[in-house]
Amino acid sequence: MATPAKLLLTDLASSVSHVPSNYIRPIYDRPNLSDVVQISDASIPLIDLQGLHGPRHSHIIKQTAQACQHHGFFQVKNHGIPEQVINNMLRIAREFFRLPESERLKNYSDDPSKTMRLSTSFNVKTEKVANWRDFLRLHCFPLEDYVHQWPTNPPSLREEVSKYSTEARGLVLRLLELISESLGLQRDYIDKALGKHGQHMALNYYPPCPQPELTYGLPGHTDPNLITVLLQDDVPGLQVLRNGKWIAVNPIPNTFIVNIGDQMQVLSNDRYKSVLHRAVVNCNQERISIPTFYCPSPDAIIGPALDLIDYDHPTVYRNYTYAEYYEKFWNRGLARECCLDMFKASTT
Ligand code: OGA
Ligand code: NI
Repeated sequence: MATPAKLLLTDLASSVSHVPSNYIRPIYDRPNLSDVVQISDASIPLIDLQGLHGPRHSHIIKQTAQACQHHGFFQVKNHGIPEQVINNMLRIAREFFRLPESERLKNYSDDPSKTMRLSTSFNVKTEKVANWRDFLRLHCFPLEDYVHQWPTNPPSLREEVSKYSTEARGLVLRLLELISESLGLQRDYIDKALGKHGQHMALNYYPPCPQPELTYGLPGHTDPNLITVLLQDDVPGLQVLRNGKWIAVNPIPNTFIVNIGDQMQVLSNDRYKSVLHRAVVNCNQERISIPTFYCPSPDAIIGPALDLIDYDHPTVYRNYTYAEYYEKFWNRGLARECCLDMFKASTT
């Protein structure tokens, strides 16, 4: 009897010496790992949030404005999230992906509209080539609406992930104030523009890969949400596109990576950029990354802030609902071109 096809990658990955054909990218779309720029520091600004509400406030605002305009990505330290909460989050993610496959599969779904699901690749229903990744996707705000859906194994998952996601939300709210101010808007402008806030997270698991030059953990994409705060373990893999070159963002302990999502680019009327990034895999080590995706409410009307539209900066986008955007994003898959072009204001 033939063995049934595997739904998940994690166990399959450890049993193969070659990448199965459905993971192999066409030649023009491979990572070219030797051509990646390996500088870490200067490439992605590192912002120290110590003294955010004190004497360093205006300096931090300036740094944020620069980072969002020129990079779309920055790192933050002294962010206020306790080290223990971070370490427990990473530990639970590792434990989850080490559970027996039969246990993990209880959470499996290929339906992107599910608010809790374990899946693989990106969107198995629509994509042609699979990605070298399994992931657990959790909605986490308001926590009481979702926590009961989460896996009960490992036994402390709900407790630790609750603590982490609450802290991550606190950090996002501080960042949203900072970013509003850096655009010259009222401090609560973005908070209000979102309607009811939404927060989800992914526990991404990238198994070691026998031929990392043939496939991606995640191919180049921009994030469709407002802002993403990424926690990663100590294994490199994230790369950001800058002036046509892929730059490796090597992990710094106790530091988060923040990136501007498509909705922030729209709110800022293109002053801030949602930048292409990707995850590559490697032969030797598993990698875990945990992005927190912060989003508008599905019915929130998104468009450029009126204060950022004037004669010299005409509106770049039309107004739309976030639900409309999100649906387009999932249907279209992770294409290189950003979804934003479909929401441009008509120029006639
Ligand atoms: C994502 C993402 C990067 C990484 O999940 O959207 O870009 O390093 N992840 O895992
Ligand atoms: Ni991303």
